[in-house]
Amino acid sequence: MASDDQKRRAAEAALAYVPEGSVIGVGTGSTVNHFIHALAQVRFKIQAAVSSSDATTRLLKAAGIEVVDLNSTGDLEVYIDGADEATRQLALIKGGGAALTREKIVAAASRRFVCIADPSKLVAVLGRFPLPVEVIPMARSYVARQLVKLGGQPVWREGVTTDNGNAILDVHHLNILDPFSLETEINQITGVVTNGLFAKRRADVLLIGTDTGVETLTAT
Ligand code: A5P
Repeated sequence: MASDDQKRRAAEAALAYVPEGSVIGVGTGSTVNHFIHALAQVRFKIQAAVSSSDATTRLLKAAGIEVVDLNSTGDLEVYIDGADEATRQLALIKGGGAALTREKIVAAASRRFVCIADPSKLVAVLGRFPLPVEVIPMARSYVARQLVKLGGQPVWREGVTTDNGNAILDVHHLNILDPFSLETEINQITGVVTNGLFAKRRADVLLIGTDTGVETLTAT
């Protein structure tokens, strides 16, 4: 059972990966909210942040942290974000909060991706958590039919519009043995903006907050 303390421990451990004077990328979700809270205490250590969602932008600004556009920064030193599922090989499913596309952009533009999570996120095989796919609204049904052909059961996340104005399909019953190939295959479907598999750009470091401390996994 995930606890708030576990998330907070992982989030606080991520501060050690924040270089002095840098512009950092900040993800979205309840674990990242703990990180923003911790970052606020040392906010003069960083120059500014690039945000992965409107929700995170609001929290960063409320914490007194300047938010800048990725187009004005070049590559970032580090990106800190949570995950919905993670393997020990550091491949992830993300997008439970519908912020996957901006998260993937900021992760791609960062030299190091530090993922923060609680132990409930660690899995041997990705796919128990339904895979979020962001789609252009008019392509929703078409994309859903293609996802069925791949063996999934897509469910429209009704009532949710992403920060980019798009829809989300949550794909159930995928047993993702080769995340890299599936990420590529789904992204080839016309109308897909991106999917929540982070295998091509996986995490470099995974910090798992436990009841007693933090376990650190690194990419091999
Ligand atoms: C947001 O779209 C997601 O990718 C989040 O990073 C993910 O859902 C993790 O959220 P929690 O930290 O709330 O579990």
